[in-house]
Amino acid sequence: MLVKFFLPLVATCLFAVPVFALDPPRTVTMTSSQGKVVFDHEGHQAAVNDCTDCHHMGMENDKRACRSCHGVDRLIPRIKNAFHHQCRNCHIKNGGPTACNVCHKK
Ligand code: HEC
Ligand code: HEC
Ligand code: HEC
Ligand code: HEC
Repeated sequence: MLVKFFLPLVATCLFAVPVFALDPPRTVTMTSSQGKVVFDHEGHQAAVNDCTDCHHMGMENDKRACRSCHGVDRLIPRIKNAFHHQCRNCHIKNGGPTACNVCHKK
């Protein structure tokens, strides 16, 4: 993964690379029966640095939004499980919040 390797080096010209000409949202608001979750995309992006850590199917896929696959095909883990695994597992490893009410706001 050459692109991954060079990522830190080309940080200053990221936006010149077509793959990154995507316009990432600043925040993503998700609604659930447990209360809405406001995901600070901009903040996480700055902290995580490699888009594909979360966008595990890659950034060139037209259907990169999690919801375009998760919850659509029943062989793919449901969105709740996918998010809980991805969000919470990283938080457990890297000191992010794990209490329900930090993510879920009634
Ligand atoms: C910490 C996890 C995480 C990181 C890192 C991350 N994203 Fe996202 N991104 C998400 C989530 C979650 C959504 C919401 C998807 C949904 O609602 O299904 C999203 C949505 C998006 C969207 C809007 C939906 C779509 O796919 O069209 C774009 C564009 C996007 N991200 C681009 C990026 C880019 C570019 C980077 C790297 C610079 C990046 N993301 C890094 C988690 C992340
Ligand atoms: C193009 C389809 C597709 C998109 C888009 C997609 N996924 Fe997935 N995802 C899959 C498939 C298929 C699997 C199961 C096979 C595997 O593990 O690769 C999976 C598995 C996962 C898993 C592991 C399953 C588990 O419960 O532990 C997580 C976590 C996950 N996805 C999170 C996400 C997140 C978050 C996004 C959006 C940023 C996303 N996925 C976008 C298809 C997709
Ligand atoms: C790859 C690692 C990683 C992933 C994946 C991740 N986070 Fe985080 N998140 C962090 C870290 C690290 C912090 C602590 C940042 C700090 O304290 O400055 C954090 C902080 C937060 C916070 C509290 C601060 C704030 O931004 O309001 C919320 C809420 C949050 N994450 C929600 C989510 C949600 C929802 C998802 C999944 C859609 C997610 N995170 C996925 C690493 C991650
Ligand atoms: C790091 C953030 C985070 C934490 C911590 C978290 N969740 Fe979630 N949870 C989410 C996200 C993101 C979703 C997906 C929302 C969606 O469906 O769009 C979700 C979905 C859910 C759903 C599914 C709701 C529905 O409408 O299908 C339930 C129930 C839930 N969470 C319960 C909990 C409970 C209970 C806890 C504490 C033990 C918890 N969550 C902790 C982020 C989090």
